Amino acid sequence: MSKDALLARRLTAMGPAYKLFYDRPVHLVRGEGVWLWDADGRRYLDCYNNVVSVGHCHPRVVEAMYRQMQTLNTHTRYLHENVVRLAERLGGLMPGDLNTCMFVCTGTEANDLAMQIARRVTGNRGALVTEASYHGNSLLVKALSTDAYPADERPDWLAVMEPPDAYRGPFRGNDADVVANYLANAGEALARLEDAGHRPAAVMLDSVWDAPGPLSPHADYVRGLCERVRAAGGLVIADEVQSGHCRTGDWWGFEAYGIVPDIVTLGKPSGNGHPLAAVVTTPDIAREFASRTSYFNTFGGNPVSAAAGLAVLDVIESEGLRARVADSGAYLHSALEDLARKHDVIGAVKGRGMFLGLDLVADHDSREPLSREALGRITTRLAEEGILTHITGRHGNVLKIRPPLPFDRSHADIAVAAIDQVLAGM
Ligand SMILES: Cc1ncc(COP(=O)(O)O)c(C=O)c1O
Repeated sequence: MSKDALLARRLTAMGPAYKLFYDRPVHLVRGEGVWLWDADGRRYLDCYNNVVSVGHCHPRVVEAMYRQMQTLNTHTRYLHENVVRLAERLGGLMPGDLNTCMFVCTGTEANDLAMQIARRVTGNRGALVTEASYHGNSLLVKALSTDAYPADERPDWLAVMEPPDAYRGPFRGNDADVVANYLANAGEALARLEDAGHRPAAVMLDSVWDAPGPLSPHADYVRGLCERVRAAGGLVIADEVQSGHCRTGDWWGFEAYGIVPDIVTLGKPSGNGHPLAAVVTTPDIAREFASRTSYFNTFGGNPVSAAAGLAVLDVIESEGLRARVADSGAYLHSALEDLARKHDVIGAVKGRGMFLGLDLVADHDSREPLSREALGRITTRLAEEGILTHITGRHGNVLKIRPPLPFDRSHADIAVAAIDQVLAGM
């Protein structure tokens, strides 16, 4: 089957809402560790996929799922030890009282449930998010995803603040004024919410803001934001769907800010490709929620999913992936900084851990973003060189590098050499 024929069949069978990466889509058929192979046997270095976080087709995860699938798969309305163990392990990895887990299948469902809990528990309806946010695609959560629909369709219970982008946002640099200005901006958003007749149920806190970033702001900003929201009667929901499971070099992205959220949502890496996600909260909040309603999710937290989730935690611990991320992430960051000194088109290196982005500019001084079309050409050229990346950022001008966690220094060297070559050829 030729690639063109498969493309045509896909369009007919699946419709035009689905998009593919790259001007010339890649047809992948196999993966192992940080490597992927296409239908022609060509090998690619995966610098993008965070779902298969402990590596493509990790044998330990595959084996755990296979064994459980052979034995039993039911749902959370029967007792099963796997799901209890997973809840205990996740709770044990969280700070404070965050030790009660509810299982779902996707990041969207986790954020939807988190928001339902926040509304029930606070009695408030409002939510605070940033411009260019993405938290998922259900009716409720899409409203929280300002990146995903036109601004004139925003509900009146939504307050939108500036993402804390110290490179290209309205307030730039590293001094205390910048933090104060972004906090004032968040305060203004809360005031607009009040004017619209709403109090906040929660702020959606990305531990690394991806859609407008990747951004990893000053800890004082995040702490100040949490204080303001709590003072207004809202909870702090940390969306760890991307930044969790050691991607930043800590177990959870919020740890770097020294905060303890009220609710944490987990997703993408939880099952290494198997749809497993969770809401983790405190016993008090869980009890208050349960006093007014119940919750059931047919697939969420089934014994096979839980086996995958447990195997992911085992692999992270036994292979020392947290330390690996801290080392390789710092190495990759520094190599990208070197590249930024060489290529004017790189305005800034953003993010932390293994969650990095190159903010590409048409003009170094004005910081005018490079066009989306140019980014499309760059990611396509990189794919031709066997390097899979993609695009993020509010202006679609950030080259996103967010590989599976076993990515090491040698992989970083390969990726950086290819980016160097592609940028030089622009
Ligand atoms: C930060 C964040 N939260 C939530 C989601 C939604 O997760 P899912 O696609 O599993 O519903 C995404 C997906 O990209 C995300 O990046």
